[in-house]
Amino acid sequence: MTVLITGGAGFIGSNFVHYYLAEHPEEEIVNLDALTYAGNEANLKDIADQKNYHFVKGSIADSDLVDELFKQYQFDIVVNFAAESHVDRSILNPEIFVETNVLGTTTLLNASKKYGVKRYLQVSTDEVYGSLKEEGYFTEKTALAPNSPYSASKASADLLVMAYHRTFGLPVNITRCSNNYGPYQFPEKLIPLMIGQVMDGLELPVYGTGKNVRDWLHVLDHCRAIDLVLRKGRVGEIYNVGGHNERSNNQIVETIVKQMNYSKDKITYVKDRLGHDFRYAIDPTKLVEELGFKPLYTFDTGIKETINWYLENEDWWRPLQKRAKLKRLEDKS
Ligand SMILES: NC(=O)c1ccc[n+]([C@@H]2O[C@H](COP(=O)([O-])OP(=O)(O)OC[C@H]3O[C@@H](n4cnc5c(N)ncnc54)[C@H](O)[C@@H]3O)[C@@H](O)[C@H]2O)c1
Repeated sequence: MTVLITGGAGFIGSNFVHYYLAEHPEEEIVNLDALTYAGNEANLKDIADQKNYHFVKGSIADSDLVDELFKQYQFDIVVNFAAESHVDRSILNPEIFVETNVLGTTTLLNASKKYGVKRYLQVSTDEVYGSLKEEGYFTEKTALAPNSPYSASKASADLLVMAYHRTFGLPVNITRCSNNYGPYQFPEKLIPLMIGQVMDGLELPVYGTGKNVRDWLHVLDHCRAIDLVLRKGRVGEIYNVGGHNERSNNQIVETIVKQMNYSKDKITYVKDRLGHDFRYAIDPTKLVEELGFKPLYTFDTGIKETINWYLENEDWWRPLQKRAKLKRLEDKS
């Protein structure tokens, strides 16, 4: 099999590239990544010289480049991780989210159709379902109701993916995962941001009241779920990915404070994010019952390992911390 992985220099994509090469050493991988501020070739330096791995710098929205790659490699499988992924940035600059997440996805769909790929998998998010109140879960039948420009662009892409399946018979899947955590996550996201703040002895800025709830899954469990859908998923189906691990932002920050022996007094509450979704919670029954998915990580083990990874890999995240303008810190009022 020859596999195109897009966005493979980002957080989840680079974990997936490592996972996939270890699980399927006989397959060939091409990683197409534009290396935006969130992409980092250093995530992949240990495999850069592997014969069955090729890195291509470029955008999924560049139709000439995408066509050339499909012609050259005749991909069997496409896994699209490439995206602008940060909600805060989508509030400041929505256009680039439409360009990459919507137009880029369409470019990949066109090439997948033209060259007849065997499976196209779109990596999506539970955020396309909008926000929950205290009760209930997102199932695959929950209506799409995205609130941020980021989630609206991801929902648009999902609709196009299903349209290419229904109109042209493209063999697609969509996975919609809850929040990921683990190694190689860009230091603007909640967990690595807070770990960095603790390491620097700084305040821990939490949006609003800190009561917003997210459903956290270790990135390697997400990678395993995607691989499972690629191997066993029914064509044209959407699978929610999660492990029933809901935590409020307060709980996440308090866990980090406790694990790192820091002071709770450093937690400060800052102006809430515009349109901040209150709660996400995934019902993963379809993935569990149809495909036998079971997460390997408990949150307790996963978060300890993740904190240790950031402690041991400061030379990885320090330069990124400088590269990113940490908007949420600037906004502190
Ligand atoms: N992080 C999460 O918790 C989470 C949860 C569910 C779904 N997702 C989805 O998973 C995917 C990966 O998320 P992530 O957290 O790893 O994101 P990330 O921001 O860490 O990585 C995105 C990668 O895509 C690349 N990229 C951006 N624009 C591109 C373009 N036009 N062409 C080619 N490459 C481009 C970047 O350089 C980067 O390497 C996204 O599609 C996101 O919507 C993320």
